Amino acid sequence: MKVFKKILTAALASALCFGVLTGCGSTESKRIIRIGHNQSQEHPTHIGLLAFEEFIEEKLGDKYDVEVYPSELLGSQTDMVQLTQTGAIDFCVASNAILETFSKNYEIFNLPYLFASSESYHAVMDDTEITDQLFKSTEKAGFESVTWLDAGTRNFYTVSKPIESPEDLKGLKIRVQQSPTNVEMMRLLGGSATPMGFGEVYTALQSKIIDGAENNELALTDNGHGEVCKYYSYDMHQMVPDILIGNYSFLSDLQEDEREIFEEGFKLINQVQREEWTSAVEAAKDRAQNEMGVTFNYPDQQPFVDACAPLHESVLEGNPDIVPIYEAIQEYNEKLG
Ligand code: GCU
Repeated sequence: MKVFKKILTAALASALCFGVLTGCGSTESKRIIRIGHNQSQEHPTHIGLLAFEEFIEEKLGDKYDVEVYPSELLGSQTDMVQLTQTGAIDFCVASNAILETFSKNYEIFNLPYLFASSESYHAVMDDTEITDQLFKSTEKAGFESVTWLDAGTRNFYTVSKPIESPEDLKGLKIRVQQSPTNVEMMRLLGGSATPMGFGEVYTALQSKIIDGAENNELALTDNGHGEVCKYYSYDMHQMVPDILIGNYSFLSDLQEDEREIFEEGFKLINQVQREEWTSAVEAAKDRAQNEMGVTFNYPDQQPFVDACAPLHESVLEGNPDIVPIYEAIQEYNEKLG
């Protein structure tokens, strides 16, 4: 199955690069809009994108045909960001974590223990005065961020023992997302960071190349990680949003009235995805606990917070541009706690 998926992915990706899939992205009369992501077809993100497909085709169906490709069919997130930059595809969902390698200011939302609560996280991400300066600053990188999606809270989960404190991470190889901030976070927490793409994690866990990973609860069920990892510890180290990015030229070439409809569509994705999110997490937790035998632990977070604190300082020192955003986030933290 995995080999088949890899062959299919490679074939699709090269077809896209050479424009042979549908004659350079357009049929006789309609422009095909391709959107890639790395989640399953049951995931809130896929459901949000299907709502977008329906909306755009209802409003602009004579001109556009939207195709949503789930499950890394168009490659890993890094591959998909590159395909979006060149315009081989039009949109993809990327974790904010990997975007920092394409545009440094995205570092901000990768900081561990940045948000004091989910309320503060949601309020910051909904504040366009904060996000616009980032989302609209990537023209040179060939993409624009058009909306954010919830990806919950990231926590450690492991094969052989629960993580009760940073000491428990010592000597363990933990998969992290491919971002310098994440690698540094793992170093500060005492574990050994093993960066890799999301699609590689299940096999790496199964074959014991890694001892654990970190993610929201859906990774246990949707991606089967709970089949191998039986301990999930709520250290709550990050709330890293997913970001829908679009090819810069495609977006700026849209006529004004079309762009307005697309903007409405982007809001709809965010709304539908977030409505689905809470119940999806509850269902995942229930299934992991009752069908997969995963134990959920609630360690004292303070030692994790303390270990990660130097990362705030070093990232802000290395990138003064993001200091005003950091300060605005602290105001939300104070207000919403
Ligand atoms: C979450 C997130 C994805 C990301 C994945 C990962 O599932 O929603 O965008 O790719 O974590 O850990 O790589």
